[in-house]
Amino acid sequence: MSTFWSLFIALATLGTLLGLAWLLIATRKGQRPGDSEQTTGHSFDGIEEYDNPLPRWWFLLFLGTLAFAFGYLLLYPGLGNFKGLLPGYDEGWTQVSQWQREMAAADARYGPLFAGYAATPISELARDEKALKIGGRLFANNCAVCHGADAKGAFGFPNLTDDDWLYGGDPETIKTSIMQGRQGVMPAWQEILGDAGVRDVTAYVRSLSNLENPAHVAVDLDAGKQLFATNCAMCHGPDGKGLQVLGAPNLTDKVWLYGSSFAQVQQTIRYGRSGKMPAQAEFLGNDKVHLLAAYVYSLSQRDKAPAEVQNRKKD
Ligand code: HEC
Ligand code: HEC
Repeated sequence: MSTFWSLFIALATLGTLLGLAWLLIATRKGQRPGDSEQTTGHSFDGIEEYDNPLPRWWFLLFLGTLAFAFGYLLLYPGLGNFKGLLPGYDEGWTQVSQWQREMAAADARYGPLFAGYAATPISELARDEKALKIGGRLFANNCAVCHGADAKGAFGFPNLTDDDWLYGGDPETIKTSIMQGRQGVMPAWQEILGDAGVRDVTAYVRSLSNLENPAHVAVDLDAGKQLFATNCAMCHGPDGKGLQVLGAPNLTDKVWLYGSSFAQVQQTIRYGRSGKMPAQAEFLGNDKVHLLAAYVYSLSQRDKAPAEVQNRKKD
């Protein structure tokens, strides 16, 4: 802001406040305390207007608001370029600077706690109750909005508790997914394959999961299979089992990110899909992501544990 406008705003603000203070005090002076039955002399249809002084508590309340206003303007930015004198905010208070300050304080306080786990391998942390508790809390704060509080996902957001992975479920790959984020790219096929082609390949893809296709839709499964081999196999694999390097899902496992009905699968193929997992390296940093990776990894191991235990019992 230029000096002129800065001064203009400061003077306008302070001038208004001082003017109000003057008005409040000046009008009070003329009043006679104790003389409460005085009227202004106006009378209309027998109705008269009292001229009582402002009640004391009300007057003091006004003074209070004025004092608050001056105090606020002294501490916080607002008077033109004046940054305010609030301790700890050299550059002036803003919501962002307050957030940064609180984050820095939290990092200083909890940073060592997170860092203490950073050197332990993820698979080991996944058995450490305390580490999982911290990871669970981080998950609730940062990941549950998309993946759900129970991490079971939703339409377009993968379930992280099953053993079905777009990009891979070993500890290091999970950590990479979280650190660097992921971007799934499923192209749109309407232009290339046309209505009949999309329908046939939809029917073929669903047949890989033994899903019945609706009787009223005429489809050619062989043509669909052919189309799949030429157009889809490079990403989803010749047998449709997917390719984790690309995040191309396994289409044979009955787990659907975008729904399994004929209409949904057709929609996916016709218009494409593009799921985006936001990168956390800068926002959360390595130490927290390390704990999160352990937490996510532990979720997918939970189902296995009882089975292993059962097997052991049988032995
Ligand atoms: C804005 C929504 C969003 C948020 C927030 C989010 N994710 Fe994701 N995440 C996604 C989407 C969408 C995908 C799937 C990407 C794709 O389709 O290729 C994904 C994928 C993943 C994967 C890979 C899954 C696989 O099958 O390979 C992991 C692991 C993961 N997220 C963990 C996390 C963790 C941990 C957090 C919290 C720090 C988090 N996500 C926060 C949307 C989100
Ligand atoms: C360039 C690689 C690529 C090609 C080629 C490709 N896909 Fe995909 N496909 C993907 C990716 C990546 C995803 C996951 C998108 C996401 O995570 O948002 C996907 C998702 C899908 C899904 C959704 C699966 C679910 O779980 O909901 C279906 C169905 C599908 N593809 C079918 C096809 C068919 C049929 C073809 C050929 C006509 C095809 N894809 C060609 C990469 C590809």
